[in-house]
Amino acid sequence: MAVRHFLSLLDYSLEDYRRILDRARELQANYTAGIRPATLQQRVLGMIFEKASTRTRLSFEAGMAQLGGTAIFLSPRDTQLGRGEPIEDSARVISRMVDAVMIRAKDHAMVEQFAAYSRVPVINALTDLNHPCQLLADIFAYEQHRGSIQGKRVAWIGDGFNMCYSYINAAQVFDFELVVATPPGYAPDPAAVAEAGDRVQLVSTAEAAAEGADLVVTDVWASMGQEDERERRLRDFAGFGIDDAVMVRAKSDALFMHCLPAHRGEEVTASVIDGPQSVIWDEAEARLHTQKALLEFLILGDVGGTPLSV
Ligand code: CP
Ligand code: NVA
Repeated sequence: MAVRHFLSLLDYSLEDYRRILDRARELQANYTAGIRPATLQQRVLGMIFEKASTRTRLSFEAGMAQLGGTAIFLSPRDTQLGRGEPIEDSARVISRMVDAVMIRAKDHAMVEQFAAYSRVPVINALTDLNHPCQLLADIFAYEQHRGSIQGKRVAWIGDGFNMCYSYINAAQVFDFELVVATPPGYAPDPAAVAEAGDRVQLVSTAEAAAEGADLVVTDVWASMGQEDERERRLRDFAGFGIDDAVMVRAKSDALFMHCLPAHRGEEVTASVIDGPQSVIWDEAEARLHTQKALLEFLILGDVGGTPLSV
């Protein structure tokens, strides 16, 4: 059987994600009750980080440990990856020693290339193109608070970058309406928008995107690797920050999400991100449960597996 990778949300069916999300809920309940099923005992996850991370590293590393396995952090700074060893050679070697590999890369093509030479599942843990693991968590957190996201209206306000693309993919897979507002010059690629069909529409103001929304989402204006553009971006994104005046356009029970880290006073005000509609802490916690279910799905070929001990 071909190795299953998770490079984009478009890689699996809604049915697969339903099973992963159901299992994530079960794992969350277990975790809360102090039950730690050792479904990944003696399994090893390699974790390659070309960029910084708090949530992604912690949730994968803690998740593997909680399921009885181990995770190994591989930084290009102190492995041969940073000294020019070809990706295909690295992939062949690393994938002979671990059960799955998680990669946070500057360039999406690096993850694709690694996956092409890997014997074991490769997980995209953020590239310039998308951040599918974050979307599993966002869908989980939305449904934890409001039930199915199908048919709901989601407002993406901010940069048409990696998180925005994953929302576009998610609209397609989970069948919700997505309204995207970006400043001129920061819109997502029209081909990706077109692929999602009429579920995705682009508007030109934050207020128009938020109108009638069930969920309002944003992300930083200068992503990792764009630090040099920060001053220009702060000017270009003026008017696209989420404040109470934007949130009031959404439904009264709308939720607010942000993948974090956040910059209060830039893309979102403190009153919104720390306010009653914000579910950012549940969203962050959901990374742990959803990725544990994803790891089982990819490594065991199914969710749940056979618990060796509880
Ligand atoms: N949201 C997210 O991926 O956070 P980290 O960059 O801290 O991993
Ligand atoms: N767009 C952000 C997401 C961080 C989780 C970045 O790429 O830095």
